[in-house]
Amino acid sequence: MQIIDGKAIAADIKKEIALQVEEIIATGGKRPHLAAILVGHDGGSETYVANKVRACEECGFTSTLIRYEEDVTEEELLSKVCELNADADVDGFIVQLPLPKHIDEQKVIETIDYRKDVDGFHPINAGRLAIGLPCYLSATPNGIIELLRRYNIDTKGKKCVVLGRSNIVGKPVATLMMQKQIPGDATVTVCHSHTADIEAECRAADIIIAALGQPHFVKADMVKEGAVIIDVGTTRVPDATRKSGFRLCGDVDFKNVAPKCSYITPVPGGVGPMTIVSLMKNTLLAATHKIY
Ligand code: GUN
Repeated sequence: MQIIDGKAIAADIKKEIALQVEEIIATGGKRPHLAAILVGHDGGSETYVANKVRACEECGFTSTLIRYEEDVTEEELLSKVCELNADADVDGFIVQLPLPKHIDEQKVIETIDYRKDVDGFHPINAGRLAIGLPCYLSATPNGIIELLRRYNIDTKGKKCVVLGRSNIVGKPVATLMMQKQIPGDATVTVCHSHTADIEAECRAADIIIAALGQPHFVKADMVKEGAVIIDVGTTRVPDATRKSGFRLCGDVDFKNVAPKCSYITPVPGGVGPMTIVSLMKNTLLAATHKIY
């Protein structure tokens, strides 16, 4: 069994990006610039955005953090999105989700210029992904594919089970895994709350991508000997022994599942660090106009 070290791979990729940025600057180019909009003070969102800003520094990017209180109006937010769309210095930007209930998330996403949508959430990017055209890939699916690539994990003709059908992870990762490419070329089954026998689906899988947000959902008796396990879960569970008061818990019962696997991602240190690196990759693509 081999543990997939997302933290180490992410550090390597950030160094690769930083070298490319140095090259751009040395040849008279512009420093890539990522902007992020954060609304309110949700603990998870605060941490994610702080990590994104730190990753920008590590890659040599300029970053701008725009903050609003929870009571910001939809109009105000949409006006800032339009401002960033028109700002020639900003190569790409994100609006951290979730947004407060009074704001229409989809409306915000669709107001972002798809050419600056480095999250890959805009319907144009999601649609282009579905038909295999160049686009900004959403961060977590892209990070998962990069881990499979860097560990040379064979996906061609394999049975891949994706647990969860979210727009951010489940659907796009299922699309990428079935795409005519390597990694990809897998036979994909997407399971969700209405799947008849999820345990049987998992037992038949060569690769399981667990993205349902239920701590320790995948148990040892649901996993075939030699399977590849990718754990996307990051549920915060209370832990009085930690300074933060919580720890991150994956969707896989790692302790009991790991001995049966050929490869497995840990939580934390697996998919998580790759997610932020994927956003950095998209920002570099935006700055160098590689996609649009
Ligand atoms: N909330 C959880 N994940 C993400 C992400 O990848 N991007 C944004 N904008 N918000 C998120």
